[in-house]
Amino acid sequence: MTGMLHKKTIEDFSNDDLNLLASKHLKRCLNAFDLTLLGIGAVIGAGIFILTGIAAATQAGPAITISFIVSGLACAFSALSYAELASAIGGCGSAYGYAYVGFGEIFAWIIGWDLMLEYAVSCAAVAIGWSAYFNKILSIFKVQIPQKFLTSPLAGGILDLPAFLIMMTVTLLLVFGVKNSARVNATIVGIKLVAIAIFIAVAAPHVNFNQWMPFMPFGWSGVMAGAGMVFFAYIGFDAVSTAAEETINPKRDLPIGIIASLVICTVIYVLVAALLTLVVPYSSLNTASPVADVLVRLGHGMAGSMIAVGALAGLTTVILVMFYGMSRVTYAMARDQLLPQFLTYVHPKYHTPALILLLAGVVIATVAATLPIKDIAELVNIGTLAAFVMVNSGVIVLRYSKPNLLRPFRTPFGILLPSLGIFFCVYLMISLPWITWLRFIAWLVLGLIFYLVNFFRRRG
Ligand code: ALA
Repeated sequence: MTGMLHKKTIEDFSNDDLNLLASKHLKRCLNAFDLTLLGIGAVIGAGIFILTGIAAATQAGPAITISFIVSGLACAFSALSYAELASAIGGCGSAYGYAYVGFGEIFAWIIGWDLMLEYAVSCAAVAIGWSAYFNKILSIFKVQIPQKFLTSPLAGGILDLPAFLIMMTVTLLLVFGVKNSARVNATIVGIKLVAIAIFIAVAAPHVNFNQWMPFMPFGWSGVMAGAGMVFFAYIGFDAVSTAAEETINPKRDLPIGIIASLVICTVIYVLVAALLTLVVPYSSLNTASPVADVLVRLGHGMAGSMIAVGALAGLTTVILVMFYGMSRVTYAMARDQLLPQFLTYVHPKYHTPALILLLAGVVIATVAATLPIKDIAELVNIGTLAAFVMVNSGVIVLRYSKPNLLRPFRTPFGILLPSLGIFFCVYLMISLPWITWLRFIAWLVLGLIFYLVNFFRRRG
């Protein structure tokens, strides 16, 4: 890739270059089924198990189902764009790699820097949620961790020990190999899907359509605010595209993995959101673990505990796949000399970017253990939406600048769907609070400074 450093636009890339973007360093061992499970692993987590209840109670009411559909549309259009670029360009850098080919190095850097933030912050935030659920399950067995080891120093404790430990455990799993991680992921995805099936089976007989009156108590603005929040629930299907270099047949399997995982998760979300609001009053859903709590309130305590275990499993795979994505994007950027070269180290036995994993794992685990992440969690949404806008734009630009590029998967209806993707993503972005915008811009400025310093160091 070193030779590609000077190449700034699509015209500079030959087809051989594009093939070279698919490196031989990482090991190809994943198929479409693994990728779909990887997607479900990254997607179903804190969003459905925690945020849905809060969004229904405080923002959308029973119309949270509509919020899920609106957010799902933004993701569906973007997923098609991801599928097109992942099959045509590939590379483990995901949106970073596509921006490199479509727009040149500086844009690629911005989006790569943005993705690092998205994935890292979501890992830290979900690790903290994991810790809360873990503690809840321990309390069922009457085991108590001292509060000071569950609380960040800024909130009066010493550290959030379970959050630190789960992050380090996931780090080691990923260092030991992608196929092993994929196996662990598949098992845990199975557990969380069973938990959701239990919820659906147990809650369905309690459906009462009177709970949907009124359906939209906070009006359309409430539905949109809810959509902005539950967007978090969909984040992760994009991480599938970072597995391009470890996929046996990426041109066929990546589009299947991205689209199948999104479709499956959307169906599950709409079902669960509808059931949650059909079996209890929406206003009672503002709890830390609404999906489990609802079953307990309906008199199914045992099923409620099983949901809690499933949720814990769900949160684990979200961290696993998000961190996987983060390490692969960072690896792609280091390989392109945009980050220090020692980060390109690949473990000779496990074929994984071990140094990136260990360094980033310690940093994220420390952040999860010591900082209250709540405030910066919305950064994940804005960062992801920005990446989606870039990917949708990339599809449009490449349709004109590189019409003959081989596209094993082609988004139908010309540039209509990517344009709709941009519209929906921007619509959701402008519904986010100004403070989130400010923090996001601060992160981008920091990234630009880093880029410029590195740029002059490389030239000098
Ligand atoms: N979609 C992931 C979750 O809901 C980030 O936890």
